[in-house]
Amino acid sequence: MDEVEGDPLAVSDQAGTIVRVDAGRTGLVWAVDASGRLRQVTLGPGGTGRSPDVPVHLYPLAYPTFGEEPLREPALRVTHADGVTSTRLRVTSVTSAPVDGHARCGDLVHRVALVDRAAPLGVDLVVRTWPCHDLLEQWVEVRNAGDGAVQLHAAAAFAPTFAGSDPHLTHWGGGWAAEWTETTERLSPGTKVVASAGGVRPSLHRAPVVHLAPDGRASETEGSVAAVAVAWGGDVRFDAEVALHGQQRLVVGHQHVGAERRLDPGGSFESPHVLWTWSDAGTGPASRSLQRFVREEVVRDGARPRAVVANTWEAVGFALHPDRLATQIDRAAEIGAELFLLDDGWFGVDHPRDDDTTGLGDWEVDRRKLPDGLGPLVDRTLAAGMRFGLWVEPEMVNPASRLYAEHPDWVIGEPGRDRRTERSQLVLDLCRPEVRRFVVDTVGRILTEHPGISYLKWDANRDLTEPGSSAVPADRQSHLAVDRVRATWAVMAEIAERHPDVELMLCASGGGRSDPGTLRWFHELWTSDDTDPVDRVRIQWGASHLLPANVLGAHVTRWGQRPLAFACAVAMSGRFGFDLDLDALSPDDLALCRRATDDYSAIRDLVQQGDHHRLVSPVGSDRCAVGYTDPRTGDGVVFLFRLAEGADGDEPEPPPVRVPWLDPHGDRAAIDRTPGGDHAALTVTGGRVAWPTGPAPCATVLHIPAVAPDR
Ligand code: GLA
Repeated sequence: MDEVEGDPLAVSDQAGTIVRVDAGRTGLVWAVDASGRLRQVTLGPGGTGRSPDVPVHLYPLAYPTFGEEPLREPALRVTHADGVTSTRLRVTSVTSAPVDGHARCGDLVHRVALVDRAAPLGVDLVVRTWPCHDLLEQWVEVRNAGDGAVQLHAAAAFAPTFAGSDPHLTHWGGGWAAEWTETTERLSPGTKVVASAGGVRPSLHRAPVVHLAPDGRASETEGSVAAVAVAWGGDVRFDAEVALHGQQRLVVGHQHVGAERRLDPGGSFESPHVLWTWSDAGTGPASRSLQRFVREEVVRDGARPRAVVANTWEAVGFALHPDRLATQIDRAAEIGAELFLLDDGWFGVDHPRDDDTTGLGDWEVDRRKLPDGLGPLVDRTLAAGMRFGLWVEPEMVNPASRLYAEHPDWVIGEPGRDRRTERSQLVLDLCRPEVRRFVVDTVGRILTEHPGISYLKWDANRDLTEPGSSAVPADRQSHLAVDRVRATWAVMAEIAERHPDVELMLCASGGGRSDPGTLRWFHELWTSDDTDPVDRVRIQWGASHLLPANVLGAHVTRWGQRPLAFACAVAMSGRFGFDLDLDALSPDDLALCRRATDDYSAIRDLVQQGDHHRLVSPVGSDRCAVGYTDPRTGDGVVFLFRLAEGADGDEPEPPPVRVPWLDPHGDRAAIDRTPGGDHAALTVTGGRVAWPTGPAPCATVLHIPAVAPDR
């Protein structure tokens, strides 16, 4: 907008200041105009050397506020203490400081401090660079420096603009058993809102990541794209706006609707953090940056190999019996599992957990089912050379429980309103300190009573309805949306700190919590309850846009009644494990599983730590190919999946798949590690690998070591 005559911001002592933010492939340049407003000069690669080439005030606002740009989406909306609804920010200072302990890559924190033109409201835009990962982390801090209360309606973490003429947005979601279903759409004028919902299992509904390709749909290797993720355990929101003259902007942060906050004098709010990376060479490099970041900077012990898990949920459900479990343990050891996970059904005394309607909250062993407790199972597992893991859902309670009878006021709910159950359960109110203490102490007691437990699967199986807390004043119930996430994180943080040797799996009805915020206290997650391997190929493909394979729990099950060999191959492309009745397997099938575990151990480092390449997309097709390579050695493994026969059964055979890290003119020795296959030594010619030819669904798993296997 043109400057208004008499604008009190007309002269700024920061005018002309340029903020250059450089994180390798990703960067941005901000500049302060004559009136003190912060403008975005450029964004993306190689842009950090660029200076404004038109007057600074012609560039878009770096952080649009309500009342400033009447025709655009605001990132910040506040009602000031005097009732004024517009905010106009001017820069008061710019600082840049190195990040302690991150000298190797030259990580910096840039902080641009702004204030409103009249109200005592401070807004800091903070950018933390991760040059080793070509990635930026951004957030916003809002401070009420006045002596009256301020209403904060919306405070996005960042709001970049993009240059281009053909914007495409890609996002993922789909609900229970359909996580990571991919949608790519061309943006038209207006605002497309992509948001998660439910508060507790938000990623079930919508993943906390989008791609914006401003100038035409990006492929895996070509096109410009920004990959943007929110590190937040609650609902997230992306507003993708195409305004007048095709101007594009993303406004990204937590879902602000229903999460308004009152900032008392001296009060402040720090928005959730956004992680984003830019690629001019397609989506592949962007995903590898996010995957590497999650593996190296987010999850706990990211370099530690993840164990092969054998879980009981699909095998025996709630019907736990010591002899049956003993057999499962023995079979799990036989097929090479490294961790035996006892899922739901082991607890509940007055209200035994015979199905999902009872017992949540009463974390004591059901001695009817397990008369000698967990001890013998833990001992048997350890004696068989495996670790022992246990399922908990510590944030929830069934009304049919001793806990609820004793503390009916410990749940999320609203006074004078009915309490609706979902999966027959209610959400514990972790905003109450005594409830946080109960959860931390309960988990602590289980682990202290059973020192042999070294892994917990932490589940959460419902959304929020009637979102009220007795710990929050009546006039700020909307704070719950944010405060409940922070309270949950505080509990997770305390448990992780008290039990540093216990690995944690994050689960929420499957992949309902797949965000890089909550993952900070976890080692891995349960990708989806849908374990039909045909569906899983697409789900794991989607998840790879944010998450590395070492956090993506992938178990061989009988969902879909697919060939066991195919199910093994699909699970081997993630964090491998089993979840099926091992006692029901034939000797041949047990041998197949054992062999798959051995093969997985040969490729585990590549899958869990390697660079991931998506080669052929299963979205809208019946084929998929992915590969993992160690760029230091050139070792690699390629997975090819045929998911279904062509409609007429005799479609023309597509060409072999080009493997990008192989020499297109050379030969490489390879080992066929396809489950159920003959483990033949093969030669890969011209850097291309052939599709499997058996009846679909079928797979090929080809291990291509850098050094020929027979040397
Ligand atoms: C959720 C999880 C499953 C299983 C069940 C147990 O649905 O996603 O993996 O643990 O709970 O009740």
